[in-house]
Amino acid sequence: MNDPPLSALIAALPKAELHLHIEGSLEPELMFALAQRNNVAIPYANVEEVRAAYHFSRLQDFLDIYYAGANVLRTQQDFHDLAAAYFDRAAADNIVHAEIFFDPQTHTDRGIAFDVVMRGLLSGMAEAREKHGISAGLILCFLRHLSEEAALETLAQAEPWADHLMGVGLDSSEVGHPPAKFTRVFARAAQLGLRRVAHAGEEGPPAYVHEALDLLHVDRLDHGNRAMEDPALVARLASSGMALTVCPLSNLKLCVVEDMARHPIPAMLSAGLVATVNSDDPAYFGGYVNDNFHALDKAGILTRDGLIQLVRNSFIGSFLSDEEKSHHLKEIDKIIDDD
Ligand code: ADE
Ligand code: ZN
Repeated sequence: MNDPPLSALIAALPKAELHLHIEGSLEPELMFALAQRNNVAIPYANVEEVRAAYHFSRLQDFLDIYYAGANVLRTQQDFHDLAAAYFDRAAADNIVHAEIFFDPQTHTDRGIAFDVVMRGLLSGMAEAREKHGISAGLILCFLRHLSEEAALETLAQAEPWADHLMGVGLDSSEVGHPPAKFTRVFARAAQLGLRRVAHAGEEGPPAYVHEALDLLHVDRLDHGNRAMEDPALVARLASSGMALTVCPLSNLKLCVVEDMARHPIPAMLSAGLVATVNSDDPAYFGGYVNDNFHALDKAGILTRDGLIQLVRNSFIGSFLSDEEKSHHLKEIDKIIDDD
């Protein structure tokens, strides 16, 4: 079978990843290795059994398995190894910059110290810079199914690390846990000089996207698919240049979209939205960033211009400085000129 037409260009373009849960990059092989190293029992006999369990019909099905998988992460070395494995894989996809999410409450609630998580992830990031030249930032996500009080406590734990954090985010079970619940948490994060992002409109209604903008004052929107149901909201997102971190394979696996051929990415680009392509939880959804581009291509909904715009958007929507953005955009231009 021939390669899809855009394969070579997808591989050649340097990219940023803006929506990646580091716990969601835990591949079954590493899960087994860490289970053995830490003497933790897992309910699977082998990696094939783990992969066979990854069938989801909605977000919560996935979250239950994802939080259980994270139970093998115990030590600073584990968090280092997790991050290092992601960056090795990201380098193979020509990711040159990554702004990665982590869920500290998933770990602190199991008795793992906040500092252990931070030190392990930061050392993985330092290795990525040295080994691959990848720049990276950390975004601390609050679990929205937990209380405002728990989020405020987590933010207080993070305060001494604020210089090592790029921002805060909001993830986990969306429906029933609207952004409004975290208004005061995000206001405090802003006081600490942290950027703000939030998952909104993945399964939740357009009203949640409005709340993320109006109450959490987000700098970027994670997913945002259901914003497409509200034309005035789409116009607002477009005119404000709000970046959306879209995750096509995740959307398919979690039944946010029925069919990749009907994914909203083309409509988002046509509406002038700063849409980007990301992997979300690649170990669970069957692919890293390039796999996501290939899936769009295979479904017949990725044009060459669309691909280039999406990749440019990954830097435009990042939290890099203007100088860094223009450096990366020029690198993209060089690849296009040679293509
Ligand atoms: N945590 C990890 N992946 C997530 C997703 N796609 N939505 C909400 N929370 C998440
Ligand atoms: Zn996500």
